[in-house]
Amino acid sequence: KGDPRLQAISQAVRVVPNFPKQGIMFQDITTLLLDHKAFKDTVDIFVDRYRDMHISVVAGVEARGFLFGPSIALGIGAKFVPLRKPRKLPGEVISEKYSLEYGNDCLELHVGAVQPGERAIVIDDLVATGGTLSAAIRLLERSGAEVVECACVIGVPDVKGHCRLIGKPLYVLVEPR
Ligand code: PRP
Repeated sequence: KGDPRLQAISQAVRVVPNFPKQGIMFQDITTLLLDHKAFKDTVDIFVDRYRDMHISVVAGVEARGFLFGPSIALGIGAKFVPLRKPRKLPGEVISEKYSLEYGNDCLELHVGAVQPGERAIVIDDLVATGGTLSAAIRLLERSGAEVVECACVIGVPDVKGHCRLIGKPLYVLVEPR
């Protein structure tokens, strides 16, 4: 965590108070994507971490996991698998519901996208409660894949350790600003 690139990555994230609703400090990674060096450093850090771990699947969570996952997949020589919100994928899917602060949502995975025994990582922009990533983990495990780790650019510090992600390790680059 003494990596000098992390401070610039953190500073490239724009904080938008009271978006999308009162009291939320929205962590806007679109400004990180505008900063070529910070964007490339972000992808490079993940690629360096996962390149020699025999990962064949990079699963990205809609929507903002799609902005980082494909670059990481190409960098480590893995396939990219989108985990999508309901009714977006045209083929046969499996679904996992999860709870949000208000209400529920769901992620879907194409049947056949992942083979039993494949080693996977899950990528998203941000982890808060971990509900979204936990649904992602369940989807991949139902397909027979082994989830090696989840990785996010931004992570809310966890008071409860790893239990947030149903036992899987979580790798985050920076805390929310
Ligand atoms: C945000 C974020 C993560 C999730 C994290 O997505 O991009 O996917 O919330 O929250 P959690 O750890 O409490 O589950 P959001 O649900 O806003 O969906 P979107 O990317 O489609 O806008």
